Amino acid sequence: MAISKEEFQLIRKFLHDQSGILVNEGKEYLVENRLTVLLVQNGCENFFDLHEKLKKDAGPLRNKVIDAMTTNETLWFRDASFATAVTETVVPHLVAKAATQTVRIWSAACSTGQEPYSIAMLLHEAVEKMGAKAPGLAKFKILGTDISPSAIVIAKTARYSQLAISRGMKPDFLERYFTKNGMVHEVKPEIRSLVEYKQFNLKDDFSQHGQFDFVMCRNVLIYFSEELKKDIYQKIHRGLAKDGWMAIGASESPRGYTDAFEQVIVKGAALFRPKRV
Ligand SMILES: C[S@@+](CC[C@H](N)C(=O)[O-])C[C@H]1O[C@@H](n2cnc3c(N)ncnc32)[C@H](O)[C@@H]1O
Repeated sequence: MAISKEEFQLIRKFLHDQSGILVNEGKEYLVENRLTVLLVQNGCENFFDLHEKLKKDAGPLRNKVIDAMTTNETLWFRDASFATAVTETVVPHLVAKAATQTVRIWSAACSTGQEPYSIAMLLHEAVEKMGAKAPGLAKFKILGTDISPSAIVIAKTARYSQLAISRGMKPDFLERYFTKNGMVHEVKPEIRSLVEYKQFNLKDDFSQHGQFDFVMCRNVLIYFSEELKKDIYQKIHRGLAKDGWMAIGASESPRGYTDAFEQVIVKGAALFRPKRV
């Protein structure tokens, strides 16, 4: 279904207001490709109709539109240098902290769960290697959130196809942390039990989640306006322990939005810590 310039602006504004996602000018084709099926399924004649329905919708249609317009692309242990930096720097810090307190980790745009389960596996491995002196795994609480309801359902289900597994899963971790069920690989309960999932919009107030020791907000800020990026960096900073760590995508940087973080380069990957004041 072709979209007119006016319809494009209405849908574009709706998406930005609801999710912060900025569909760039000239990307009419993206809206056409991703929303035409929904438009037809909802008995709409055109994108004006869809927009009218969205205005009156209490949530279900809005969720479907957001689901269709979000890019849920993700990988296990995304970016090799980042995974090494986390394994060698953040994980030992979190494990040491767990000796005296509960450690909280947030994957703030977790898509279909690969990011939170990856960190859960790294923590599990580190704890296992420590043997008798290790803190109990119950000391680690990982929260995975995403705006996309269907991504959260997949993450909770913790079942992945061979194609999804082939995108970054290490053979030894596949062997240790998954059960094969026909064509499907299921994350074992010992890893699943470390992670809780919720639908959450990064535009909203973060204070409900409390304080974290490690926040991953990776490969999502690129979709947002300058103003929203700034707001999200500030909200992460407020929710981060003084000795906490923040991770963002390899192409993302807080520079120009806030000077509240110091960058630490570990094995070629940039990690961030709140600046001491
Ligand atoms: C490209 S994926 C990145 C997934 C993972 N962090 C990674 O780096 O592999 C971006 C995710 O951000 C989510 N997202 C987009 N807008 C959001 C918002 N306003 N609040 C929360 N999540 C959002 C999308 O649904 C999608 O799952």
